[in-house]
Amino acid sequence: MTSSNDPHIHYIKDKAVFIIQIDRPEKKNALTQGMYKALADGVKTAESDPEVGVILIRGTDDCFTSGNDVNDFVSSQSPSNERPSVAFMKAIAHARKPLIGAVNGLAIGIGTTMLMHCDLVYAAQDSYLQLPFTKLGLCPEAGSSFLAPHIMGHQRAAELLLLGERFSASKAAEYGLVNEVLSSTEVVKFALEKAHSLAALPSEAVQTSKHLLKRNQVEMIDETIALELVNFSRLLQSPDAQAIVQAFLARKRG
Ligand code: COA
Repeated sequence: MTSSNDPHIHYIKDKAVFIIQIDRPEKKNALTQGMYKALADGVKTAESDPEVGVILIRGTDDCFTSGNDVNDFVSSQSPSNERPSVAFMKAIAHARKPLIGAVNGLAIGIGTTMLMHCDLVYAAQDSYLQLPFTKLGLCPEAGSSFLAPHIMGHQRAAELLLLGERFSASKAAEYGLVNEVLSSTEVVKFALEKAHSLAALPSEAVQTSKHLLKRNQVEMIDETIALELVNFSRLLQSPDAQAIVQAFLARKRG
């Protein structure tokens, strides 16, 4: 089996379930461009492996991911279509096989927006999610400005995406972003059981059903990702965003 090219991303094939694990605990699983590339490659590998029926994305036992590595936001280079982060967004948006997210600890930024592309999401009772884009002087990404209101309705999406505050797994479940809330020791186990149940079903039936469920969203998601990228890049260069990023990094140095 292909192994990941990034030491912080692991591929684990458990029968017909392809597990992609984010593992950079010392940085709260913050995602670098190398990690995004390995995440995108993992999805592509799983998609093309006929033995794989389901893709499960997880973090470490106490952390899903704190989102994009903030160091990335300093670079004057603006995010473009060729960035691995964008390749990852597109890979999950276009995955034919079911995607399952298993959340422990925190899921910030892309940690939450990637869940909007998952078909099933399970989260630990003590986990929290956050879409902190406006607090960073930025705007939504990964198609979330379309997917969030589609999943939960405008006012709920506006609450999460405009205020940018942390929210609990139970609120995420109430808003339709999480299927089930479990204890932190059970969440990955439970997600894996569901993944195996799904993988045991006739794959053509499952993939056709997923396609039918998502068929009229795909074009809109692609369009949204492109439009978000233009605005995100512009805002990232703004004095507001750069001051916030520098303050986070200075806190680290201080
Ligand atoms: N990018 C880069 N480094 C990050 C990071 C991120 N997104 N999230 C955490 N880290 C690093 C911290 O800088 C720290 O590194 P250090 O030990 O070298 O100083 C380490 O991970 C541990 O994080 P710390 O902040 O000490 O842990 P905490 O439990 O107090 O807080 C967070 C955790 C996630 C709430 C906090 O780190 C945070 O706000 N991170 C930024 C989240 C973010 O804005 N992501 C971008 C979304 S678009």
